Amino acid sequence: MSTASPTRSSDPRVPPGPSRPKNPLRRVVPARRDRLAGMTDLRRHFGGAVRFPVGPLWFYLFTDPDLTQEVLVAKADDFELGRMHRAMTAIAGDGLFSSTGDLHRRQRRIVQPAFHRSAIRTYVAQIEHSTTQMLDGWVGVDRVELVDEMTLLTLDVVTDTILGGERLDDADAMYDRMAVGVDRLDKMLTPLGPLLTRLPSRSNRAFDTAMSELRASIEALIARRREEGREGEDAMWALLTATDEDGAPLPDELIRDELITLALAGQETTAIALCWTLWLVSQNPDVEERLAEEAEAVLSNGGLGGDAMERLPWARQCLEEGMRLYPPAWVVSRTAARDTTVGDWDVPKGANVFTSPWVTHRDPAIWPDPERFDPERFHPEAIAVRHRFAYFPFGGGVRKCVGSALAMVEGTIALAMIVRRYRLRWAGGPPPSTNAQLTLRPSGPVWISVEPRTA
Ligand code: HEM
Repeated sequence: MSTASPTRSSDPRVPPGPSRPKNPLRRVVPARRDRLAGMTDLRRHFGGAVRFPVGPLWFYLFTDPDLTQEVLVAKADDFELGRMHRAMTAIAGDGLFSSTGDLHRRQRRIVQPAFHRSAIRTYVAQIEHSTTQMLDGWVGVDRVELVDEMTLLTLDVVTDTILGGERLDDADAMYDRMAVGVDRLDKMLTPLGPLLTRLPSRSNRAFDTAMSELRASIEALIARRREEGREGEDAMWALLTATDEDGAPLPDELIRDELITLALAGQETTAIALCWTLWLVSQNPDVEERLAEEAEAVLSNGGLGGDAMERLPWARQCLEEGMRLYPPAWVVSRTAARDTTVGDWDVPKGANVFTSPWVTHRDPAIWPDPERFDPERFHPEAIAVRHRFAYFPFGGGVRKCVGSALAMVEGTIALAMIVRRYRLRWAGGPPPSTNAQLTLRPSGPVWISVEPRTA
């Protein structure tokens, strides 16, 4: 599936791509432009492997599925984590997202059981409960704002699944602090971000305060749970009862960082996936009616039970297609740990390397009529004949999203339950556009009219 490059540079082992800007200022401070359109253009003009300048640096963009697989799986050892991961250390220390080597392997072994099938089965009732509560709140309301609604829903689910239902005394403040953290990660991704975020500015002081409050809240939760000794299948209990090689419990600091990581990584991404999918469904009444019929047939017979995903195949396909068009993690970044190669191309040590679900998921060579919302693309037979890395909203390899199964179950159930009770229509105003920061958010509020299906 390798894509032939239309314009090879003179050095055959350097991927094709634009040269450095002529304007000397632009060689230091890159022009601000739409990141998504920029990456799509690079793919269109230069192919599945591109080298491009960002200020004084060279970046590499690999969007061909074979090359993506090479970066994330086959040659994963040649790549360290990218800038985004390093930025996360300021918020969540050595949590799973930013730890490396043996520490990463160990943490993954400890955390993973909280996301296994058997644990997720136990979360289904909690997801149903949280979604019902949200939907009850829509009774008598004409329209809702999807970003806020989905954010609160996924925060609720995180509280149940990661923190074992341990209620936060200061949930609203906690949400605000997490938002400050996400905002900081966005800033770190700008070319001057790493420098600006070190200055003694007011916003940096506000960030430090929010982070110490966030840490203190989580530490208080850990202390309370230890005291209660309440067992569970949630991530917090897995961490509290884990031991290292010498049989010693994990330090509280590490448990705290891990919980912050999981809460941050698991909440916004899932909220965004739901938001975009609901928006797409609201634009496609045929898809919506089929969803409502499936949900009614399955849900009218009581609770979902552990096999929610198998029983709601169309809802799952809709969510997958939603994440194809709007992958919450629109780039997955790495840094070359040593001089290496990807496909035919040389990649020098220290180079910034991107793979991009956004670009690959909209590649017309892989996805006919790529802009069209068509959940049939995720029929099992269609999936079986596609390249494994034609679609990778959860990344791949040893760092593949640890919460992917939870996200899928949560998104599928919420989608089915919402559409079963309400018909969704765009409530006017400008249609949502993309804001590609750390995650792929809608650029503003997304208002949707909600019309109850049954009187
Ligand atoms: C639709 C929802 C989600 C999307 C699109 C998503 C996407 C991703 C992606 C692309 C990665 C790989 C990053 C890389 O390789 O650099 C990742 C990693 C991760 N995700 Fe998710 N995620 C979602 C939901 C969740 C949930 C629900 C949790 C946990 C509650 C979670 C926790 C994590 C963690 C801890 C990592 C780091 C794993 C490691 O490095 O070992 N994510 N996620």
